[in-house]
Amino acid sequence: MASQLRLRFALALVTGAGSGIGRAVGVRLAAEGATVAACDLDGAAARETVRLLGGPGSDEGAPRGAHAAFQADVSEAGAVRRLLDQVQACFSRPPSVVVSCAGITRDEFLLHMSEDDWDKVIAVNLKGIFLVTQAAAQALVSSGCPGSIINISSIVGKVGNVGQTNYAASKAGVVGLTQTAARELGRHGIRCNSVLPGFIKTPMTQKVPQKVLDKVTGMIPMGHMGDPEDVADVVAFLASEDSGYITGASVEVTGGLFM
Ligand SMILES: NC(=O)c1ccc[n+]([C@@H]2O[C@H](COP(=O)([O-])OP(=O)(O)OC[C@H]3O[C@@H](n4cnc5c(N)ncnc54)[C@H](O)[C@@H]3O)[C@@H](O)[C@H]2O)c1
Repeated sequence: MASQLRLRFALALVTGAGSGIGRAVGVRLAAEGATVAACDLDGAAARETVRLLGGPGSDEGAPRGAHAAFQADVSEAGAVRRLLDQVQACFSRPPSVVVSCAGITRDEFLLHMSEDDWDKVIAVNLKGIFLVTQAAAQALVSSGCPGSIINISSIVGKVGNVGQTNYAASKAGVVGLTQTAARELGRHGIRCNSVLPGFIKTPMTQKVPQKVLDKVTGMIPMGHMGDPEDVADVVAFLASEDSGYITGASVEVTGGLFM
């Protein structure tokens, strides 16, 4: 739980905010005082997150100071541009904290993976983060505001995972993209960091067969899968000035898996 309102001046845009890690991030940032713009491909899920934060859950914007929900597909350049425009119109400023949690899996062994499954995962997990990071950074630089951009990668991007060539490649790409953005944007006062979760209990991992989860859990030094809130704790730290001299970092939240 948040012990202080470290983010009381922050406007936080969270993508993938309708489920799992993104929803937990929205809840945590709001608990630390941030105003949250919750975005998801599933607009109803984003509105439900805003309802959990105590906001009106409106697609059309928010009353002054309130949280708001937005529907957007992060893999579409036009949709991401519209999203940033809508958020700025709604709150009269660009988001100072941007957390990209939107992500998908389309698992298959390399020998059988279709081009479509490759393209979809790269489009959402990697191109989506490029589009959101670029649009948010452009808005911050043109308004002269500092910011913190946090991109959710995965430990799988570092070590690979059977059946996930597409996903592992996308998540490794997120780390390289984020480090490069950190190098380019530091002089504008914009920090960029990635978070590498291990195996976290969300709808995404509910699709993994139980015997695979049991095997992985047996390899985790902490002895159990993580909760979305474990990731949200780290995101809140990276969003806040408590991490003011950290940029280009990749923080693992894995319970020690693959250390
Ligand atoms: N759960 C884990 O163990 C785990 C581990 C490492 C990394 N991650 C990453 O964390 C992030 C969140 O994962 P999760 O476990 O909470 O998954 P989730 O499936 O619970 O949530 C993902 C959310 O992203 C949204 N989304 C999907 N495609 C989108 C698009 N094109 N545009 C906008 N929103 C879109 C979905 O509607 C959903 O609400 C993902 O990037 C995932 O790869 C998860």
